[in-house]
Amino acid sequence: MPNNKPAIGEDLSQKTTASLNGKNSLTITDNRTGKQYDVKIENETIRAMDLRQIKVRDDDFGLMTYDPAFMNTASCISRITYIDGDKGILRYRGYPIEQLAEKSNFLETAYLLIYGELPNKVQYEEWANNVMMHTLIHENVKKFVDGFHYDAHPMGMLISTVAALSTFYTDAKNISNPESRALQIYRLVGKMPTLAAFAFRHSVGRPYVYPDNDLSYAGNFLSMLFKMTELKYRINPVLEHALDVLFILHADHEQNCSTSAMRNIASSHVDPYSATAGAASALYGPLHGGANEAVLQMLDEIGSKSNIPAFVKAVKEGKGKLMGFGHRVYKNYDPRAKVIKKLADEVFEVTGRNPKLDIALELERIALEDDYFVKRKLYPNVDFYSGLIYQAMGFPVEMFPVLFAIGRTPGWVAQWEEMLLDSEQKIARPRQIYLGRDAREYTMMGKRPQEKKPKSEA
Ligand code: SDX
Repeated sequence: MPNNKPAIGEDLSQKTTASLNGKNSLTITDNRTGKQYDVKIENETIRAMDLRQIKVRDDDFGLMTYDPAFMNTASCISRITYIDGDKGILRYRGYPIEQLAEKSNFLETAYLLIYGELPNKVQYEEWANNVMMHTLIHENVKKFVDGFHYDAHPMGMLISTVAALSTFYTDAKNISNPESRALQIYRLVGKMPTLAAFAFRHSVGRPYVYPDNDLSYAGNFLSMLFKMTELKYRINPVLEHALDVLFILHADHEQNCSTSAMRNIASSHVDPYSATAGAASALYGPLHGGANEAVLQMLDEIGSKSNIPAFVKAVKEGKGKLMGFGHRVYKNYDPRAKVIKKLADEVFEVTGRNPKLDIALELERIALEDDYFVKRKLYPNVDFYSGLIYQAMGFPVEMFPVLFAIGRTPGWVAQWEEMLLDSEQKIARPRQIYLGRDAREYTMMGKRPQEKKPKSEA
């Protein structure tokens, strides 16, 4: 992270580096030629394209940067989410996540992420109505869900059905039309819970429950998941609030793996449903949104507090990871994990304490004192405690990444639209360093070395 951290409330968008020798620039000397180049510094970055002028011969391609996994590469300018990983700060459009979790609700936070400001009463009611009027899905989607095997992973079902929405809403291809983009945003935010609930109901062999738009966003989702034969599902307000807060905490997180996938895929100007399916696919991975499912599996594997020392020893020997710990950006406690930890107490008041919480708390205590984790700045992240709450609320572990995807959808669509409206953005197409074979002539079969076995079996 840049060392001149922004003051609270400072507008980051026009930030430039404090002057060095009165110039915001680097002077680079190419020792191969002795030539010097002045490269501008702006917002704590240099433009990679400015390095292309650095050549030995005039017909050289020029220098590039090499940055596997983009550890130190800004792919875009964004005004949506700000993270200070060292200080454990997370803000949506400048508002601290702790305040939004305490005072806002998920639909209002989604509006904030997408439109940039907190809505007034009229704006909120119009937004909430637009979303809730788009919770139904085409009846044919049920046939896709019916077609999955009984034990199909709900995330695989969600990814497939959100992609399928692109076949129903062909107007979504019109990505340059603001009204069309707005309509697809209503549909995606409105329909993700329905697709998720239908996947869950299929996996437990129960009939689908249609949306009940009298209920809140989280309440309607709980109804579609857990309603049985009663006419109206009775919402538990504590669980409804907990789920709403969890959605807020997951709503955006700047250029994480799945959001980068969303931007990358959508940069080809494909429709937002296909791009969202790609983003959800990235989220599904156990290193990303699949981690909360992996945390519960890890806690099950540990089984009891007495087994923690042996498990930690194995992790330190490189035999597996402490799932739910560590983060590419946070080198401090993930602020979302702090909120979730407090939320757990509220939920367990209603559901009964999840016995795995004791293992998780002891695991955290030990890890935060152990030099292996301290040295690597490995702290609990958003996934470490969220699964314990979800499980206590009655969700099977397979549903955890699906819940993450519902929460993250406003972030994905906000970043999608920001990318489309950014005049500097174009189709994403990184370069590479080629270290493969040089040019060579095709060899006819008879002239090739006749090894006994194919290379792969050698
Ligand atoms: C999310 O990017 C986002 O913003 C993501 C997210 C979001 O909201 O979108 O915050 C959501 O994905 C949270 C992260 C969920 N994933 C997990 O909990 C899985 C476990 N965590 C790790 O796999 C890891 O910490 C990552 C993937 C999260 C981050 O990996 P990095 O930044 O690539 O770090 P690294 O793998 O290079 O690790 C640095 C060192 C290594 O040790 P050395 O090679 O230096 O000896 O730390 C070790 C790693 O082995 N390490 C861990 C560890 N995480 C890193 N060791 C044990 N357990 C871990 N969890």
